[in-house]
Amino acid sequence: MAETNRTATLNIDGKSYDLPIFSPTVGPDVIDIRKLYSDADVFTYDPGFTSTAACESAITFIDGDKGQLLYRGYPIEQLAEKSHFLEVCYLLLNGSLPTAAQMDNFEGRVTRHTMVHEQMHYFFRGFRRDSHPMATMVGVVGAMSAFYHDSLDINDPWQREVAAIRMIAKLPTIAAMAYKYSIGQPFVYPQNDLDYASNFLRMCFAVPAEDYKVSPVLAKAMDRIMMLHADHEQNASTSTVRLAGSSGANPFACVAAGIACLWGPAHGGANQACLEMLREIGTVERIPEYIARAKDKNDPFRLMGFGHRVYKNFDPRAKVMKESADEVLDLLGIHDNETLRVAKELERIALEDDYFVSKKLYPNVDFYSGIILEAMGFPTAMFTPIFALSRTVGWISQWKEMIGDPALKIGRPRQLYIGEAARDYTPVESR
Ligand code: CMC
Repeated sequence: MAETNRTATLNIDGKSYDLPIFSPTVGPDVIDIRKLYSDADVFTYDPGFTSTAACESAITFIDGDKGQLLYRGYPIEQLAEKSHFLEVCYLLLNGSLPTAAQMDNFEGRVTRHTMVHEQMHYFFRGFRRDSHPMATMVGVVGAMSAFYHDSLDINDPWQREVAAIRMIAKLPTIAAMAYKYSIGQPFVYPQNDLDYASNFLRMCFAVPAEDYKVSPVLAKAMDRIMMLHADHEQNASTSTVRLAGSSGANPFACVAAGIACLWGPAHGGANQACLEMLREIGTVERIPEYIARAKDKNDPFRLMGFGHRVYKNFDPRAKVMKESADEVLDLLGIHDNETLRVAKELERIALEDDYFVSKKLYPNVDFYSGIILEAMGFPTAMFTPIFALSRTVGWISQWKEMIGDPALKIGRPRQLYIGEAARDYTPVESR
């Protein structure tokens, strides 16, 4: 951690404590409270971590007021336009853009790891056919630690690297297998002369009985969706991966924990929930009814795909996603898409509504992604698995950063205890 001579003073019951203040490269200053408990015998209280920096990180930066997202300093809009997913993976994992030779080498290594251990095919068969693909993915990714013993030693940098490559390479295969299994079709093996996104589309939509040609425009849109979801600093699933990893758990188990967290509708599960909501609304005439429900304190309904803990101006990912939605629908000749019409009108009305404006609620990345994925032919249950396979590189980059940090400590929050004080056990006859 950098040196600092700035301090904040905290007064408690007439005693004062000086707390160091650190300045990040960009973003708000951070008050270091690590010694507060030992010095002052108090904890800080921040459920939901709204004001807490849980780690140092050099990977991703978000400025919620500006609507800015940077991967290793590069704006997401530039990457979405000029880069591609595997280059972004290299960037997130290693800190800088690759040279042509580095890219070749990285792509080659990822590509050679796309198949999964053949025995994993049998593992899939243990799941019910109607399992949600996220349920299958949590299980199968966790089970990778039972298949790849030679990359479990977290203290060996080479094994950490191999585990990272394996997960980036195999998650699309596993997600596609979860899908194929759920619809009763045979698994399609990866075809390594295809790029990453095309390979994934082929594994989802090809069948052995017919030829399947991947549309380059759809592959580009898929690649862009992956880039937009690749990392998002210390969000809930990434923090889950870090917390799991802080105990020394193996990387496959940690990423399985991240997938479990991502599944929730407040996080990655919002893309499925959002499309289901748009379909339920059905026509633009019914939008006011749903806006009213979202504003009603007594109704738990929320506009899915709206709002974000950090973005308070706009979500830059949503902007790119909206453009992609138009492109994909155009390509597929879908000019009369009622869901897109409902989405655009809902966005327009909400952005003029006092409730949403005053609470700074804007469409997030999940608002338009479902429309694109549905147009490509994915069922809603596959939306969150696609988020998961795209976020894997972010999880693993953050995990690698944490494990490589000599100051690593097990994550162990404290609490504001509101239960009973110590009391004596009473035998059942006298209760
Ligand atoms: N619809 C209606 N009201 C909302 C919404 C919404 N989507 N989101 C927040 N609010 C209200 C909320 O009721 C609260 O009102 P009040 O101050 O009167 O109690 C206020 O806005 C602040 O909400 P919060 O829940 O305290 O904010 P948060 O930062 O804890 O939650 C969120 C962020 C994303 C969980 C939340 O906005 C939400 O549930 N959105 C819908 C789900 C969604 O789209 N999630 C995807 C997030 S982006 C993808 C990802 O990174 O996972």
